[in-house]
This record gives sequence, C-alpha cells and structure tokens, in this order.
Amino acid sequence: MEIYVDSANLDEIKKAKQLGLADGVTTNPTLLARESDNPTQILENICKEISGPVHAEALALDYEGIVKEAKELVKIGKNIVVKIPMMHEGLRAVNTLKDLGIKTNLTLMFSASQAILAAKAGATYICPFLGRLDDISHDGVELLNVIKGIFLSNPEIETKIVAASIRTPNHVVDLASIGIDILTIPGKILDQMEKHPLTDLGIAQFAEDAKKFK
Ligand code: E4P
Repeated sequence: MEIYVDSANLDEIKKAKQLGLADGVTTNPTLLARESDNPTQILENICKEISGPVHAEALALDYEGIVKEAKELVKIGKNIVVKIPMMHEGLRAVNTLKDLGIKTNLTLMFSASQAILAAKAGATYICPFLGRLDDISHDGVELLNVIKGIFLSNPEIETKIVAASIRTPNHVVDLASIGIDILTIPGKILDQMEKHPLTDLGIAQFAEDAKKFK
C-alpha cells in the first residue's frame, strides 16, 4: 500500500514526508487555489520535494485542450501525472496520452462502470472519490471494494486505484483492509490517525510516575 498526501501545501507535504508518508502527492484545482503561489510554481516546488508521482489536474474539458495541457504539465517535472476528469473527452485524451507515454489519472470517478472504461482506455491511475459518495448517503468504501474486485478478476488491467476524498481515519482503515493500491490522505487526517486519548493518558501517567524514581 502506498500513501500519498492529498494537498498542495508544501509544509504539509514536507511534514508527511518526514514520517515516510509521502509516496506521492495529489493536487486538484481547489487545493491549489488555497495556496498563495501560482499553480505552476507550487507544482514545481512539490516535484522537487517529492520523488514519487505528483498528480496535477488539466483544466481543459475538450480532447484537444486536455492533450495540449497535459504536454505542458509534464514539462513542470518528470514525476507529473496528469489528472483528467472522467468524461468522454477525458477518456479519449487518456487513450492518446498513453500512446505518448504520459501518465494519467482519471479523476472524479463515482461508479464501477466508469472504472472499467478508464482501465480499458489505458489510465495509469483512477481516483474514486469515496467521501463525496458518503456525503450523499452512498457507500464509498463499498465502491472501492467492487472496483478492487473487478481489477483482481481481470489481471490484465494495470490501472492502479488511488482512493481519494478520504475524510476520516476509519476510511483509511477500511481501505487498507481491502488492499487498495494507493490512499491519498489530507494532512489533517494523517494528524488524526496519530492520536488516541489512551496514548495521551498513558504518556502523562508514565511521565508522572517517572518523577518518583529514586
Ligand atoms: C484528490 O485527488 C481529490 O481531488 C481529493 O481527494 C478530493 O477530496 P474532497 O472530496 O475532500 O474535495
């Protein structure tokens, strides 16, 4: 299992890297818009910091535009993976970019049928968004489970699953249990995963008792 940082914030990425939690990074336009630098500069900085894949989203929505933008994005760093929205033009672009040797991630994926099309088009990665499914009372983890099952039943599929829109530590545990390839996790959730009230109590109690040492 690999863990990516779901962030465009360099400090957050560096902090995760210090714990061995930055096998890669995923960004999206919303995450990039939260930062003060321009997107190209941010992505360039992340690519210098992280040796693994750095996922950057194309904004164009038409086939020609996506292919053109993808060719520009990969100039930012040799580890750039181009995220492309899951739609007809996106699938077409993925198929072309595969032949050009450009790695892609079909993002905004919400169904198993979309995952099958993405795999056949030749996407290097897919990003199913489980948190957004949970938000509308669907079962995000169950979708990941179904996609994982389909990919296992069809071993010729090389597309890797990047579980995205992770909202809780329990999401991480559920996904790790079913063997999802890659989990992209926001810094806030990584922080929450460290914590347990009994750990804090135990640390405080041991420190208190240690004062009694002769
Ligand atoms: C990552 O690649 C996705 O864009 C991200 O996980 C989406 O998360 P959100 O649904 O919390 O915005």
